[in-house]
Amino acid sequence: MAKSKKETLQLGNDTFELYISEERIQLRVQQLAKKISKDYKGQVPIFIGVLNGAFIFLSDLIRNVTIDCEVDFLKLSSYGDAKISSGKVTLLKELNCDVKGRDIIVVEDIIDSGLSIDFMKRLITVLKPRSVNIASLLYKKKAIKIHTPIKYIGFKIPNNFVIGYGLDHAQKERNLKAVFRLKENN
Ligand code: IMP
Ligand code: MG
Repeated sequence: MAKSKKETLQLGNDTFELYISEERIQLRVQQLAKKISKDYKGQVPIFIGVLNGAFIFLSDLIRNVTIDCEVDFLKLSSYGDAKISSGKVTLLKELNCDVKGRDIIVVEDIIDSGLSIDFMKRLITVLKPRSVNIASLLYKKKAIKIHTPIKYIGFKIPNNFVIGYGLDHAQKERNLKAVFRLKENN
């Protein structure tokens, strides 16, 4: 059986349970792509994916939009292999496109504390784009530290650690087609 079709996954001492199915994700991505295509009609936005986690969401999203678009990537410091953010954000890969006067859609896998997205918004805003909006597949409800409004949210989720569809468990499991969440107290 394909790993993504399983209901639970045992990864070392961690047990994960199926949380958002492949079908639900694909449906939601199509809805977001439709909304973005409508909102950006007649424009050519640049989708900026935040590596590594956003690459799968970004690729599904841009293949579902019906407008012309460009793509670039940014990389920020990650959690390493930890499940809790260090609270420190640094830039590991800069942008290669000219942002000035352009419509930017930053694409994230998940917004947790909100620190990374605040950092990116500031970084991009100084480059004088015409507009900046954020699309995130997942949004943890504890993201209260955040000062940046998120225009396109796939799913609002509780504060569990999640993996799959781009999100990693110690760098692995990004290739799961569904999202799984860590079972508490296992
Ligand atoms: P923030 O700065 O705390 O919002 O963290 C955002 C980044 O942390 C995301 O882009 C992810 O790469 C990573 N992250 C946050 N929560 C999770 C999770 O539950 N699973 C995997 N990665 C996560
Ligand atoms: Mg990320």
